[in-house]
Amino acid sequence: MTASDDAPISTDRFMFGRAQRWLHWSMALLIFAAIGLGIVAAYYPSGQQPRQGLLELHKSIGFTILALLVVRIVLRLISGEPPYRRPLGHLTEMAARAGHLALYGLMLLMPLSGYLFSGAGGYSLPWFGLFQWPRLVPRDHALSEWGQVLHDRGAWVLGAVLALHLAAVCWHQFVKRDEVLSRMTGRASES
Ligand code: HEM
Ligand code: HEM
Repeated sequence: MTASDDAPISTDRFMFGRAQRWLHWSMALLIFAAIGLGIVAAYYPSGQQPRQGLLELHKSIGFTILALLVVRIVLRLISGEPPYRRPLGHLTEMAARAGHLALYGLMLLMPLSGYLFSGAGGYSLPWFGLFQWPRLVPRDHALSEWGQVLHDRGAWVLGAVLALHLAAVCWHQFVKRDEVLSRMTGRASES
């Protein structure tokens, strides 16, 4: 087949699909918003405004992330990952795999631990003022505290892994000058 030598087709082969790219960027935006709102809310006293309002928005965004994550994982399992145009090398590829897996795990841990914290604590489980998510966990102070510890620690780990993720992208883009960023932007790279 000579089609593999054709430029547009061979470029696409090395990129994530449109839906995967859309999910990556919209979820990245929502995750940055959730982190920002969570941190700002933590500075205000409990049970009062503006903390309550900020947390309502934070939780709603968190639930949205969880719903999108389900779609994203299904899509990822179906579509897989595009090959790298220039192989990364065994160690770098293992590190990228481990980092991406950790990010998927943290995208799951954060909403679930937040849900445990708020659900077991008897707090609200809102979605943008439209409805409340069902409370599937018993009201239990100790369980809620577990959720809080997981959520707090998870937030630090997410921050650290995310910093590594962004540092790795910068390293590829500005030091190695390869096409890794374009795999997720969908823009063809000449290099
Ligand atoms: C990917 C989704 C989420 C991310 C990245 C995230 C991140 C954060 C961060 C960074 C904080 C501030 C640090 C801290 O106090 O722990 C926070 C606080 C908080 N989050 Fe989330 N969160 C997410 C989802 C949720 C969900 C779904 C809920 C509840 C249903 C929730 C409930 C809370 C609450 C109640 C706080 C205040 C914690 C406190 O005062 O100790 N979060 N979150
Ligand atoms: C400005 C922020 C971000 C940039 C520039 C960025 C860039 C990228 C790039 C270029 C890739 C492709 C890497 C490769 O193919 O080896 C990627 C993959 C990935 N990113 Fe990000 N990212 C950002 C934010 C985030 C955030 C906030 C998360 C989630 C917490 C995230 C989670 C992931 C995951 C899980 C993958 C692997 C995708 C897969 O294999 O299905 N990214 N990112």
